[in-house]
Formats: sequence, structure tokens, C-alpha cells
Amino acid sequence: MSDTQIKKIIEDFGSATKRAIDCGFDGVEIHGANHYLIQQFFSKWSNKRNDFWGGSLEKRMNFAKAVTDKVFKTAKKYAPKDFIIGYRIPPEEIHDTVGYTWHESTQLIKTLTSEFDFDYIHLSLPEYNSKPNDSDKSFAELFQPALGDAIKEIIVGNIMNESDAEDAIRYADLVAVGRATLIDPQFGLKIQEGRGNEIIEKISPEQVKKSHLTPGLINIFSDPKMEPHLSGRESIYDLHQKGTLDESVIKNGTGASYNLDNFKK
Ligand SMILES: Cc1cc2nc3c(=O)[nH]c(=O)nc-3n(C[C@H](O)[C@H](O)[C@H](O)COP(=O)(O)O)c2cc1C
Repeated sequence: MSDTQIKKIIEDFGSATKRAIDCGFDGVEIHGANHYLIQQFFSKWSNKRNDFWGGSLEKRMNFAKAVTDKVFKTAKKYAPKDFIIGYRIPPEEIHDTVGYTWHESTQLIKTLTSEFDFDYIHLSLPEYNSKPNDSDKSFAELFQPALGDAIKEIIVGNIMNESDAEDAIRYADLVAVGRATLIDPQFGLKIQEGRGNEIIEKISPEQVKKSHLTPGLINIFSDPKMEPHLSGRESIYDLHQKGTLDESVIKNGTGASYNLDNFKK
């Protein structure tokens, strides 16, 4: 990307924030996670630049800082005072080589939270209590000092039932639930109403219908190669359409690059 293209993208983050405000959203989450653009700039695995936007740790932070600055300025101008702004980040990126360590990502978070008035930081984790190789503490515990008391910490990752949620909330202020809510959209409601034991944890043909899963999600959840796999997925193997799952999705475990062309027919 040229310098001009980068500056245009930063403007676009401002426009996206404005659209969210105009639509009446309560807030926005800056997506610095899961190999999307902001993470690509922060990672030395993907960022091979040697200019203002890359080279040293400080320079790899510049894109995240510029996007954050644009989002906050846009919110200040157009949003109500209680508009929520968060930042999502995986604590570390390890491939054959290291994209960044949690030591570096805590530096980024310290920098962002000292310069901007974030409401929360959302750690994107494979398991809510995941730990790095060089500490006995969980990532959630390791990031807490960088946030202080005012900024809330959210964790996500393999919270599949009420007891997982109860355990996870010991580590952070809030827990987020992804796949389990797709299987049973009443996950939160059932806990709130004291019916956590009624949460449906297994995917099944019946639950696919009840939850109104999209074709893309059905195909991912029924793919025998998809990891981590969902409990009960064998019961929906026959709903799987072979050859539609992008190899990178199988490897990275997200639906970010899912090809829906086969469903359009
Ligand atoms: C089908 C699917 C698609 C996903 N797509 C994205 C995505 O586009 N962007 C992203 O940041 N995370 C994505 N994720 C990851 C989730 O946001 C979440 O971090 C992950 O599923 C772990 O939470 P869970 O164990 O509660 O599902 C996706 C996950 C699944 C299962």
C-alpha cells in the first residue's frame, strides 16, 4: 500500500464510525484482531515495511494509533457522550516465526489506553484461560495491569455453557460468547433467567433450523475438517457441501474468507 492508500483507509475507518453513529449503534469495536488489516500492520510477520508504518515496534503501532485517533475524533464530533469504543486484539501471533509476542501487544495496549479513552479491550483467545509459554498466568491476568480499573477487559474463547461462563468471568470483567450463541441464541437469556442448565450445547439438524443458521455457517460447522469442531457436528455431516471451504479458513479457523458463491445458485 502506498502512503496515500494508507491515509485513505484511515479516513475510511472514520467514515465507518460515522455510519455506525448515524445508524444508532451504541458503540464500535476497532478490529485489531484475527489477521485483519490493523493486526497485519502490527505484526512483523506480515509487515515488511521500512517507513513510518513499519520497521520497529513503535512504527508497527502507527497504523493502529492512526485508526484509533480517527475513530475517537469522529466519535467526539458526531456521537453521544456515552458512545462505547473498544479494541480487539489477540495477545500474540505465532507462526513459523513470531508476528508479535504478548510483551509487544501489552506495549501496544498501554500506548493506546494512555492516549485514548477506551471503554474496553477485548482479548481474542482460542481458550478464555489461554496462557503464553513463558508465564503461569492467563493472558487475561497479564493484560489487566495495562488496563487499570477504568477500562474493562473482555475475553472470548470456547465458552460453551454456563459453567464455562462462570469460570471465565473470574479472569475478566466481561465474557463474550461466539459459537455457543450461534448454536443456542438463548444462551444469555437462559442464564439470566436462571435456566442455564437448559442451554443446548450440541449442534443438530433441529438446532440448525431453530437458530436460523446461514448456509455459510452450516457448511463450516458441518465440515469434518474444521477445527475446533463443535459438539454434535457428526449429526449434520450430510448438510456439508464439499469443496466450498477455503483452505485458509480450515487453517485459521474463522469464516472470514468464506466463499458463498456456491450457495447463490
Ligand atoms: C464461523 C466463524 C466465523 C468467524 N469469523 C470471524 C471474523 O470474521 N472476524 C473475527 O475477528 N473473528 C471471527 N471468528 C472468531 C470469533 O470472533 C471468536 O473469536 C471465536 O469463535 C472464539 O469464540 P467462541 O469460542 O465463543 O466461538 C469467527 C468464528 C467462527 C466460528
